[in-house]
Amino acid sequence: MPAVVLVGAQWGDEGKGKNVDVLSSKARWVVRFQGGNNAGHTLVVGGKKTVLHVLPSGVLREDVRNAIGSGVVVDPAVLGEELDALAAQGCVVGPDRLRIDRSAVAILPLHCALDRARERAKGDAKIGTTGRGIGPAYEDRAARRAVLLADLVDAGRLERKLSAWLDEKGPLLRAHGEEVPPLAELVATCRGHGERLEPFLDDVGARLAEALDAGERVLFEGAQGALLDVAHGTVPYVTSSHTTAGAACIGTGIGPTRIDRVVGVVKAYTTRVGAGPFPTELNDALGEHLRTTGAEFGATTGRPRRCGWLDLFALAYTVRLNGISQILLNKLDVLTGMSEVALCVGYERDGERLRDFPHLAEDLTGVTPIYDWMPGWREDVRAARTLEELPENARAYIDRIASVLGVQIATISVGPGREETIALRGPWP
Ligand code: IMP
Repeated sequence: MPAVVLVGAQWGDEGKGKNVDVLSSKARWVVRFQGGNNAGHTLVVGGKKTVLHVLPSGVLREDVRNAIGSGVVVDPAVLGEELDALAAQGCVVGPDRLRIDRSAVAILPLHCALDRARERAKGDAKIGTTGRGIGPAYEDRAARRAVLLADLVDAGRLERKLSAWLDEKGPLLRAHGEEVPPLAELVATCRGHGERLEPFLDDVGARLAEALDAGERVLFEGAQGALLDVAHGTVPYVTSSHTTAGAACIGTGIGPTRIDRVVGVVKAYTTRVGAGPFPTELNDALGEHLRTTGAEFGATTGRPRRCGWLDLFALAYTVRLNGISQILLNKLDVLTGMSEVALCVGYERDGERLRDFPHLAEDLTGVTPIYDWMPGWREDVRAARTLEELPENARAYIDRIASVLGVQIATISVGPGREETIALRGPWP
């Protein structure tokens, strides 16, 4: 039962799409288990770029089955558009290659309106959400009033739920100056989505249990990153789902004993999009250099990402949260050309070194990073396919990461293409 969970170990945008794409060549299933279309997973195949927001990153491989678990919040309109866009490129993803859990929460246009209205109302204190309705949709699940995908195919149930939703949230939306569509219009739109999605709906946990019993390889594809976890991240500057590895079980319907390994995706430096503390942020020319060289602009919103040095103190925390034993290190090529590179190995406050990573935003603000400075490298690394082909200083940088975190490095990515990868060991057990 080879099941591997892949999670982002930073604030998202670690380059997970490429890793999932590479790992899925040996997988039978690729499964999304949390988040929604706030994610943007970029795949570059044969020089062509595809950005996926809802669909699992296995969809570009014809022999891979894909699943969306019950822990995902699904915007049916966006899902439909994504399927259409792929079909237009000749990649038809039918029900034989995509199963979607009946109990996943549907994101309604009203959720997006509420998300944006709340951000507007917060002014300077805003989180910087993607505005995709993620938070309001998860709130509905916790409040036991969510419209589930299964409801989209049952007219009576759908009307009852939408009507209750409008009774409760309509006045709030209007108070924020948002337009609220009439119930009949909402029901008709949702029914249209339901008809389209019905052939894909399934019990994803049951399908995955069968696959694991049959010895098929299942890759769980995390979205966002561990530091955006709703409970363990830099609260309140987080997303609304659990982005850590435990969510792979809860968000699909299989038990923890079925997971064999957790791998963490780490970018060779750090980025963050949206608001919130970021101790190793570089608000200078170096930060700008990382942003331009690394093309650090949001795949979902186009926003410029904040950039900074690699934070091993934060990573040690997320290695612990997720039970990560292997790291997939990405974008090493972006660091080429720097005379020195820094690794943050701890934080200080008032002259005292902190013992634990202070993940609550109030506690994280105002810490001073402690850096290990190392010599950089100027040689181009994009053609390297083995560790030996990397400059000595780049190898020393990687060794230091592995030894501080106590993990193995499984792959090193030296460029965006599938083939621009140094594979050291296979994450598949
Ligand atoms: P939300 O997930 O849209 O509610 O946004 C909450 C926070 O998570 C914001 O700071 C977003 O920028 C951040 N966020 C959400 N999804 C991603 C992602 O896929 N990558 C990086 N940051 C994300």
